[in-house]
Amino acid sequence: MKKLFQAVSAVKYCLTASHRKGFGVQSPFVFHLLNHVFFEKGKYYCYDKIEAIRTKFLSDKKVVQLVDYGTGKSRSRTVADIARKSVKSKKYAQLLFRLVNFNHSRTILELGTSLGISTMYLASADFDSKVITMEGDPTLCKMARKTFKDNGFHNINVINGNIDSILAETVASVETLDFVFFDANHTKQATLNYFQTCLPKIHKNSIFVFDDIRWSADMWSAWNTIVEHPSVRLAIDVGGMGAVWFNTDLTKQQYVVAF
Ligand SMILES: C[S@@+](CC[C@H](N)C(=O)[O-])C[C@H]1O[C@@H](n2cnc3c(N)ncnc32)[C@H](O)[C@@H]1O
Repeated sequence: MKKLFQAVSAVKYCLTASHRKGFGVQSPFVFHLLNHVFFEKGKYYCYDKIEAIRTKFLSDKKVVQLVDYGTGKSRSRTVADIARKSVKSKKYAQLLFRLVNFNHSRTILELGTSLGISTMYLASADFDSKVITMEGDPTLCKMARKTFKDNGFHNINVINGNIDSILAETVASVETLDFVFFDANHTKQATLNYFQTCLPKIHKNSIFVFDDIRWSADMWSAWNTIVEHPSVRLAIDVGGMGAVWFNTDLTKQQYVVAF
């Protein structure tokens, strides 16, 4: 059923997505965002460094035992399989880097670390920024911590625990949230709870990015509820992810962009 939803949703996205490079966009802010952030083609130093780490993971046949957060059961996977199936692709991970770079994020929160690929992109725009990343599986936490240490990422704090129960205290420990990447429990209820928990710490320039908005009917419904929320002023859907802005100077608008 999920596979069917994903296929239909991908076709609908291809048919509705437009505004590539800002054609037909009225808002100067969105025009700038599309041209200078979403479709920016610059080569940043961190791109090659992080992609080399991904390549190493992709050829690592070591088997690890992971806790499945849906069932609570333990299951074995190779590192290569995790890197192939559970980690954001280069295209989207590099967009995360450009978004944190764009709003000069200093306090960044990530829900769902896995091997830490997206985390390293989030941490690379400013090494004085503070990245908090949360992961439930202890083996993945250990691996991610080692990767960050071995590669000189000193601005990342990995928190091990069930995000559904420890997010509130983590959010309470920071003054504001400049950027949040939601990539953990992909159910509607959990996604909306995460969103509501993080909302009190937003400011005018905060950005929230939701992963896998077309992964299931549930996630699609969560995304649409978020877009409709009164505090959201701008929503940009790029197929695999959706980003929202809260700047009250903007009139409420929504774009589906062919990314
Ligand atoms: C898609 S992966 C994250 C990928 C990573 N952001 C990247 O792109 O490199 C999602 C992770 O969230 C973790 N996760 C899911 N639900 C969770 C929960 N309730 N608490 C803690 N971690 C959870 C899973 O263990 C998994 O490693």
